[in-house]
Amino acid sequence: MKVITLGNELLRQKAAAVKDINGEIKKIAEEMIDTLHRQKGVGLAGPQIGLMKRIFVIHIEGDEPRIFINPSITATSQETIKYEEGCLSIPGVWANVVRPRSVRIQAWNEKGRPFTMETEGILARVILHEYDHLEGVLFIDRLPPQKRERILAKLDKIAVGEGAPGTG
Ligand code: NI
Repeated sequence: MKVITLGNELLRQKAAAVKDINGEIKKIAEEMIDTLHRQKGVGLAGPQIGLMKRIFVIHIEGDEPRIFINPSITATSQETIKYEEGCLSIPGVWANVVRPRSVRIQAWNEKGRPFTMETEGILARVILHEYDHLEGVLFIDRLPPQKRERILAKLDKIAVGEGAPGTG
């Protein structure tokens, strides 16, 4: 699977519900996890591979790979935390983003079983980042405007210069 990057309009569109959790979506989820491992990322959402479906996969260090299909964020903490984020679709860019410290999410797994998870720390952070992808939102959208502008200006310069941002 190829990960699409900033500038591709698909990253700005809202993904549609997965209608049927069947063998096909399970296979897609497994391929997404393989892609995530190859790209050395921690999370990958459908729109990032041009699949406009509500699915994302997460694999953080010390945890097992996790698959979320048709997720809903059912609660977030009032308390927020600043944490550095990057995105496979915006290679080479890292920035501190403020988000809720903890999250409760309801979703279905690849076997079609619903589950609810309440978590904080890095997992909560990655869940919120990946969920945003399903809504066409990128982490740079959550930065203060001046900081976002600086990043976009820098990316423009790279794009017209010699080396485009790495795709690793
Ligand atoms: Ni991302």
